[in-house]
Amino acid sequence: MSLILAIETSCDETAAAVVENGHRIRSNIVASQIELHRPYGGVFPEVASRQHVFDIVPVIARALSEAGVDWADLTALAVTAGPGLAGALLVGVNTAKAIAWSRSLPLVAVNHLEGHLYSNWLDEGDRLTTAALTRPTLPELDAAGQAFPLLVLIVSGGHTELVLMTGHGQYRRLGATLDDAAGEAFDKVARLLGLGYPGGPAIQQAATSGDPTAFDFPRALTTQPEHRFDFSFSGLKTAVLRQVREFGETALPVADLAASFQAAVVDVLIAKTADAAAEFGVGRVCVCGGVAANRALRAALADRLPGAVSIPPLFLCTDNAAMIAAAGHYRLHRPGPTGLDFDVEPDLALPVEA
Ligand code: KG4
Ligand code: ZN
Repeated sequence: MSLILAIETSCDETAAAVVENGHRIRSNIVASQIELHRPYGGVFPEVASRQHVFDIVPVIARALSEAGVDWADLTALAVTAGPGLAGALLVGVNTAKAIAWSRSLPLVAVNHLEGHLYSNWLDEGDRLTTAALTRPTLPELDAAGQAFPLLVLIVSGGHTELVLMTGHGQYRRLGATLDDAAGEAFDKVARLLGLGYPGGPAIQQAATSGDPTAFDFPRALTTQPEHRFDFSFSGLKTAVLRQVREFGETALPVADLAASFQAAVVDVLIAKTADAAAEFGVGRVCVCGGVAANRALRAALADRLPGAVSIPPLFLCTDNAAMIAAAGHYRLHRPGPTGLDFDVEPDLALPVEA
């Protein structure tokens, strides 16, 4: 049995988790800093680092006690090395190194994006979509040697990528955003509409009473052959800005604007994902990252994509350490422990094949 303690401090959540065999969550502790950053309308990096310093030890202690494990029970440690905020990452990485050194435990450095992807391997990870209910879960497929190839849609605050996964740790990038990430677009448009931080949940909430067809916002399908699977959200953001300006002093129809913006993002994400699945003949799509928590996107993925779709439950879409433990489990197996001689990498990209 493998028992991995993972630590995640890449942005504004201090998180630690214990995961068994890469699938079973024994504990998953997340100390969120949302309230701390709300007055700034976004994450204040220095404040985030300081809060991680305060929270990291109690969060780890709680992850161990809720899992009912002791240091001696652990197989290895995993920690997010990037991408993320340098000062925030440093807190997690240095804590993990100190523990690994003092307890003589192997340490695995994990890419945060790979972590999001592996949220689909956690036991709860497959239970959400109606299609998935009647299909084997990823851990089951994996055990039978049939999990790959998979199409992965990563939609987080900093990244929007379509990736073909051909094996554990083996990725081919099919497309990425040419400008803003999907979550970034949600956050910026929320600001334009005077909604709070974080923007994604605020837009989703406002959109519930809005008409998604009220405004015909552009769907940037970037059809040039070299950009077929790329995304672009900055034109959509500008279209919302223009519309907001047109209203001038008149009260904004915030709900309709939010619903129409959200529908445009969802349409583009679904269209590109469906095209890529067809082109590469992939029968199963995994979705992950903070924006995968969006209700309209989840419903559209289940209704409009042919084949099986895995979407993690809400608590595993946003940043957490269980996903880092799951990714760490596979990395520990191959290529093996990282050692202590690595640094944080704020701009780390998913390790794709050439
Ligand atoms: O994956 P994540 O927690 O952090 C990063 O690795 O970036 O993603 C955060 C992003 C934010 O942009 C947030 O606005 C967005 O995910 N988000 C959502 C929802 N919940 C979080 N976007 C749309 N709808 C949501 N319900
Ligand atoms: Zn994230």
